[in-house]
Amino acid sequence: MSEIPTNNQGSSGVSLPGDARNRPAVVVTGASEGIGLAIAHRFAAGTGYPVVMIARRAPPLEAAAREVAERSNVETIALPLDITAPDAADTIETALRTRGLHAEILINNAGVGLGGDFARHDEADIADLLDLNVRALSLLTRRFLPGMIERARGSIINIASLGGFAPGPYQAAYYASKAYVVSLTRALASEVGGTGVRVVVVAPGPVSTQFHARMGADHALYRYLMPALSAQAVANATWRGWKLGFRVIHPGPLTPLTSLMMRVTPWLVLVPIVGWLLGKRLGR
Ligand SMILES: NC(=O)c1ccc[n+]([C@@H]2O[C@H](COP(=O)([O-])OP(=O)(O)OC[C@H]3O[C@@H](n4cnc5c(N)ncnc54)[C@H](OP(=O)(O)O)[C@@H]3O)[C@@H](O)[C@H]2O)c1
Repeated sequence: MSEIPTNNQGSSGVSLPGDARNRPAVVVTGASEGIGLAIAHRFAAGTGYPVVMIARRAPPLEAAAREVAERSNVETIALPLDITAPDAADTIETALRTRGLHAEILINNAGVGLGGDFARHDEADIADLLDLNVRALSLLTRRFLPGMIERARGSIINIASLGGFAPGPYQAAYYASKAYVVSLTRALASEVGGTGVRVVVVAPGPVSTQFHARMGADHALYRYLMPALSAQAVANATWRGWKLGFRVIHPGPLTPLTSLMMRVTPWLVLVPIVGWLLGKRLGR
């Protein structure tokens, strides 16, 4: 398998017929599992475009890319890459260009959480979270947005969280990073108005993936009280919301109401409630 494998039903990779140059592609970060993989499936099936799937660990990513290619009969490119690397945007651009592709839809999904007391976090973990959730997302957006504006078409879909609407004691840096994503997206959506380009934010509540276990939050109270959506439900809602032209997408039946409550409740009241849900632990 080549360093950047292509799974293409019916085509053999980089050699392209002349009229197929500069084809639109979907780029999904964090696409080897969880929400990113479900979104890769949904957008592959919905658009029929080649899908560039990015994550750090090659074996699960390549398996995921094969799965998407087989199910939707689209070309998939597994690009093993740490998107916090300084040259990550260059690497993605090169992977696209060598295949005659451009980023028609960029889905900034890769993200990490960090649970517990902020004062006890490793400084390196805070830096890693900011690098991924804030810096990489911003720089990939900056890299691919001008091409979209020039072509007068394209979309950037940023995966934030309900946590982007309130301060989150015991997940303080994570919630703050998602507030940045919500704010950045809303501002850019306004800046690109009338250009033919859309910048969209998705704000799911809890979703059943490995995400919560990875940040040590699987036994926090919210995991017991708040029903979790499937990654597939989030992907379907993202697809529907994007097709309908929404700027902010709240997947699931309860999320729009929860989001509204979070935005209208004074922080004096809201923040202790969020802190109780995130900080109180059951079981281990
Ligand atoms: N799960 C939830 O309850 C929930 C709720 C609201 C919002 N979200 C947001 O949804 C997004 C996806 O969450 P998820 O639950 O699907 O997470 P997940 O199951 O932990 O998957 C994370 C994905 O990101 C990849 N990734 C992590 N660090 C990376 C890096 N530096 N460079 C490239 N890829 C990287 C991982 O693969 P590698 O480890 O191989 O790199 C994996 O494919 C995140 O932004 C998260 O904040 C999740």
